[in-house]
Amino acid sequence: MRTIDEQGYHFEEWLTPAEIARDVQQVADKISADYQEKEPLFVVVLNGAFVFAADLLRALKDIRCEVTFIRVSSYFGMRTTGQLQFIVPLQQVVDNRDVIIVEDIVDSGLTIHQLKAHLRAQGATSIRVATMLYKPNKMEYDDAVPDYVGHEITDEFVIGYGLDFDGFVRNLDAVYKVKE
Ligand code: IMP
Ligand code: MG
Repeated sequence: MRTIDEQGYHFEEWLTPAEIARDVQQVADKISADYQEKEPLFVVVLNGAFVFAADLLRALKDIRCEVTFIRVSSYFGMRTTGQLQFIVPLQQVVDNRDVIIVEDIVDSGLTIHQLKAHLRAQGATSIRVATMLYKPNKMEYDDAVPDYVGHEITDEFVIGYGLDFDGFVRNLDAVYKVKE
C-alpha cells in the first residue's frame, strides 16, 4: 500500500486509481441515462473538483452539455470555517438550465446548500449534485444530499485526486486517508 507524509501527518492509500475509475464510470453512466433528453450545464466547484470533473465529463455517453466553473472556499487546514466565499463567481447564465454541480467531496453540506440557493435564485430549472466522495455522517443540510456519489466515506480527512491539504497534494492519482 502506498503512503504519503504531509505536514507531519501520515496518509495511506484508500482508493486506488482503478477503483476511482470504476466509481467515476458508474456516476457517468447514471448521469448519461438521466440526461439523455437534456443539455445539462455542469458547474464545477474549483479548486478540488477539477480532477473528478475532467474524468467524469469524458466518461459521459451521448450527452450534449456545457461546462462552467465557480470557485468557492470554506476550508482552512483540516477544518471548515463555516463561511462560504465566492472567489470566482459564476460566469454563465443558469436561467432555464438543468444544472449539475460537480464536487470533489460533500462534507457538512454547507458548500452545496449555499451554492444551490445561489443557483436557484438565478433561475436554474433543476439542480443536482455529483460528487466523488460523500461523508453522510457529517451532513447538516437536508437539501445538500448529493444525487450522484462515487464513494461514501466516514469522517476521516482525505487527500489526493483533487483534494488538498492547505493547497498541496491535489495531484495525487489516488485518494489517501489520514492515519492517527
Ligand atoms: P462542506 O461545505 O462542509 O460540505 O465541505 C465541502 C468542501 O470541504 C469540499 O469541497 C472540500 O474542499 C472540503 N473538504 C471536506 N472534507 C475534506 C477532506 O476530507 N479533505 C479535503 N478537503 C475536504
Ligand atoms: Mg472543494
